[in-house]
Amino acid sequence: MRKTASTTVPVHPLLAERWSPRGFDRAHDLDEEALTALLEAARWAPSAQNSQPWRFLVTRRGEQAHDQLLATLAPGNQAWAGAASALVLVAARTAGDDGRPQPWALYDTGQAVAALVTQAQADELSVHQMGGFDTAAVRAGFGLAAALTPVVVLAIGRRDSSGLPGPLAAREAAPRTRHPVSDLLLPARTVREPAAA
Ligand SMILES: Cc1cc2nc3c(=O)[nH]c(=O)nc-3n(C[C@H](O)[C@H](O)[C@H](O)COP(=O)(O)O)c2cc1C
Repeated sequence: MRKTASTTVPVHPLLAERWSPRGFDRAHDLDEEALTALLEAARWAPSAQNSQPWRFLVTRRGEQAHDQLLATLAPGNQAWAGAASALVLVAARTAGDDGRPQPWALYDTGQAVAALVTQAQADELSVHQMGGFDTAAVRAGFGLAAALTPVVVLAIGRRDSSGLPGPLAAREAAPRTRHPVSDLLLPARTVREPAAA
C-alpha cells in the first residue's frame, strides 16, 4: 500500500512515501546490520553543543524485554505493535552530570528519531512512533536513571497490513492529511516599543 504525501511541489521520495503503519510482518526479523544502520543514522544527528542526549533501549520480538515493553503501551497500541520486529524505547538525557536541565535534549532526540525514521524508509523498513505508553512503568521496569526522560516507543519492522482486524485495517487505509503550508506561517510583523517618555 502506498500513501504518498500530496505536496504542492515535489519533495524527496523518502519523505513523501513515509507513513506510520500498524500492520507489521511477524515473519520479519530485524538483523544486526539493519538495526545498526538505524542507530548510526540517529547517532549522526545534530544536537546542541554536540551533547547527543538520545538513548535507545532495543527489544526484539521473541525476547522477554519486547513483551515487557509491549505491556507498557496504551491498549490501542498493544493491539497491533506486538507484530513489530523491534520495539525501541527512546529516552532523552534531560539533565546533565551536574543535575542541570538540558533544554534542547527533547528537541535533539526528536531530530535523531527523524534521521532513524528516514534511514528506515531508505532501507524499506517502517517505523511507527508511539507516545501512548506508561512512562512510570517503563522507568520502573527497565530501571532508567533519573536523568533520562522516556520520550517515545518505536515499532520497527516490515510493513504488512494483511493480518489487521477490521477497524485497524480501515485506519490503515485512511488517507494521510496535513495542514496547508500557509497555516504554518507566522506573520513577520514588527511590534514597535512605545517611545520612552
Ligand atoms: C511523538 C509521537 C507520538 C505518537 N503516538 C502515537 C501513538 O501512541 N499511537 C499511534 O497509533 N500513533 C502515534 N503516533 C503516530 C501519529 O499518529 C502519526 O505520525 C500521524 O498521524 C501522521 O501519520 P503518518 O506518520 O502516517 O504520516 C505518534 C507520532 C509521534 C511523532
